[in-house]
Amino acid sequence: MDCYLVDGGAKLSGTVQINGSKNAALPILAVSLMTAGRCTFRNVPVIRDLQTQVKILNTLGIESQWDGHTVTTKVVDTYNSVAPYELVKTMRAGVCVLGPLLGMRGQATVSLPGGCVIGERPIDLHLKGLAALGAEIAFDQGNIHVTAPRGGLTGATVYLGGKFGSSVLATDNVMCAAVFAKGVTVIECAACEPEVVDLADCLNIMGAKITGAGSPRITIHGVKRLRGVDWSVIPDRIETATFLIAGAITQSPITVAGGRPDHQLAVLDVLRQMGVEVKRHGNKMTVVPGGRPKSAELATLPYPAFPTDVQSPMLALMAIANGTSIVTERIYPDRFMAAAEMKRLGANIAVSNGQAVIQGVERLQGAPVMASDLRCGAALVLAGLAAQGQTRVSRIYHVERGYERFEERLRKLGARIHRVSEESVEPAAGA
Ligand code: EPZ
Repeated sequence: MDCYLVDGGAKLSGTVQINGSKNAALPILAVSLMTAGRCTFRNVPVIRDLQTQVKILNTLGIESQWDGHTVTTKVVDTYNSVAPYELVKTMRAGVCVLGPLLGMRGQATVSLPGGCVIGERPIDLHLKGLAALGAEIAFDQGNIHVTAPRGGLTGATVYLGGKFGSSVLATDNVMCAAVFAKGVTVIECAACEPEVVDLADCLNIMGAKITGAGSPRITIHGVKRLRGVDWSVIPDRIETATFLIAGAITQSPITVAGGRPDHQLAVLDVLRQMGVEVKRHGNKMTVVPGGRPKSAELATLPYPAFPTDVQSPMLALMAIANGTSIVTERIYPDRFMAAAEMKRLGANIAVSNGQAVIQGVERLQGAPVMASDLRCGAALVLAGLAAQGQTRVSRIYHVERGYERFEERLRKLGARIHRVSEESVEPAAGA
C-alpha cells in the first residue's frame, strides 16, 4: 500500500485549480437512470468514489464513457434494479440511486449502508420520504427493496428533518423520486447544500419542475419523462476549503481558482476570526496570511453553516493556533478520528461528547499517522505541512476517494510531499 511522506515547513506559492464537486457529481450521475436520452456530465472529478458510482450505474444498465473529466451515459437496459452490495458497501453514497430508480422503474434494491468511521449512516429519512410518496419498503438480508404502487408514486408533503437536522442525500432521493410522482410534492426541512441545488438545476434542464432548491422547502410538480442533458458539475467547496487551509497553515499566499466564493462564507468567516484574510477576485480566492493564526470557536451544522466535511482540516489549523479553540460537531458527533492522530504530532486536543477543545501549540512534530476517512486523511496532510520534520500518512486510499491527484497538486504549490510504497519506508520506531 502507498503512503504520503510530508516534510514540513515549506512555504507554498502559486495557484491551484479546483475540481468538480464529488458530492454534487455522485447524485447527478444517478439522474442518468431517469432518462432514455444520452447524458453528458462535465467537470466530474476523476476520483475513486465517482469510478465506483459509474460501476454501480453500469450494473444498473447504463453504458458509460469516461473522457478526462467528462462522463457520457446512456441507458441500454433496465432489467437490473439491484445496486450490488460489493460496490455500495465501499461507498455509502451509492444509496443515491434509490430515488432515481424508484421514480423511473418503479422499484429499487440497495444494500442498507452500515456504519462507518465517522459514525452511523442511517437512511430512515430517505425511506420516510419515499414511503410518503406511496413506496412500499421491505428489508431482506441487509437489502432495502422499495416498490412503487402499480399506478405509480403520488406527490405528498413530507418533513425530512432528523435529530441532526436536514439530510443531503435523503433530500436528493425524495426529490428525484418525486419528479415522476403524480401531483405535487413538498419537501419540508430540505437540505440547502449547493450540491442539492446543482442536482435540482440539472433535473430542471432535463424537464423536471422543481422550485425552492437551496431553501428548506422544495416543491416538485410531477412530469411524465425527462430528456437527456449536457451538464457541468459545480466546483468542490470542500476541496476549496482544504486548499485554503493549506495556505493558512503554512502562512502562504496561495490562490485557489475555479471555486465558488459564495459557497465558502462559513469557512471564510472562521478563517477571518483566526486572522487569515482571503482576498476574493472573481472565482479566485487568495490567502493573505496574518502570522500565527488566532484560536476560534465553531459548530458544524447543515449548510449554510460550517460544513462537517471541513471540521477535520480546520482542526489541523487550530492545532497550531495561538489560544484555545472549541469545535462542536453537530452532524457526526463521533467524527474526531483526526484529533486522535494529530495528538501523535503533538497536538493538544481533548475530545468528549461531540466537542473538541484544542489548545494550540507553537509547532507540531512529524510522526507516522493513519487516515481513517478522506477528510481525516487530508487534515493529517495539512498538519504535516506545518509540522517540524517528516510526517508519514498511511491508508491514503481514503484520501484518494475524494481528492484528485492531491499530493501532486500540493507539490506543484511547493509542498514537500511524495507518495511512496509503505514497504519502501523504514518502519517507525515502536511501530
Ligand atoms: C452528505 O452525506 C455528504 N456526502 C457527506 O460528505 C457530508 O458529510 C454529509 O452530507 C453532511 O453534510 C455526499 O453528499 C455524497 P446527511 P449524507 O444525510 O447525505 C443523519 C464527505 O466527506 N441522517 O446529510 O449521507 C446522519 O447520520 C462525505 O464527502 C439520519 O439520521 O449525510 C447525519 O448525522 C462524508 N437519517 C446527518 O443526518 C437519514 O436518513 C446528516 O447526514 C440520513 C441522515
